[in-house]
Amino acid sequence: MMSLARRTLLLLAAPLLGALALACQKAQARQVAGGNPERGKTAIATYGCGSCHTIPGVSGAHGKVGPPLTDWSQRVYIAGEVPNSTDYLVRWLEMPQAIEPNTAMPNLRVTEGDARDIAAYLYSLR
Ligand code: HEC
Repeated sequence: MMSLARRTLLLLAAPLLGALALACQKAQARQVAGGNPERGKTAIATYGCGSCHTIPGVSGAHGKVGPPLTDWSQRVYIAGEVPNSTDYLVRWLEMPQAIEPNTAMPNLRVTEGDARDIAAYLYSLR
């Protein structure tokens, strides 16, 4: 049987490990290879994402058709389908139907470069 001291230690360590894992995940999610957040912000305006989404920092982006993209770096899933990772987000932006065939978000033919820039901007929202 486990001693009380050991059990107490484990109980204390668990939340710390959880917090550490979350911190790593968040730090990881924010790095988008080849992505530039400033260019991403411009691309979001060019593609008109704001007509459907509320996106902090992008003027006129107050759409209510899709979910708000506020605090995006803290979001756990994309469209409730796949984990919120850089790779999945880039794929979602390039072709949402590849992840959710019946989604209402249209395929806007976002290029991979633009998708990386947009992802970099979205992950800057915390
Ligand atoms: C015509 C409206 C429309 C446009 C334009 C649009 N979206 Fe969406 N978007 C949606 C809808 C609706 C959803 C919800 C999809 C679902 O859950 O199936 C969505 C989902 C998303 C999600 C996942 C949200 C979440 O909470 O999981 C992201 C990220 C996203 N859109 C980003 C963008 C970006 C960036 C653009 C511009 C390149 C864009 N969208 C353009 C309608 C739109």
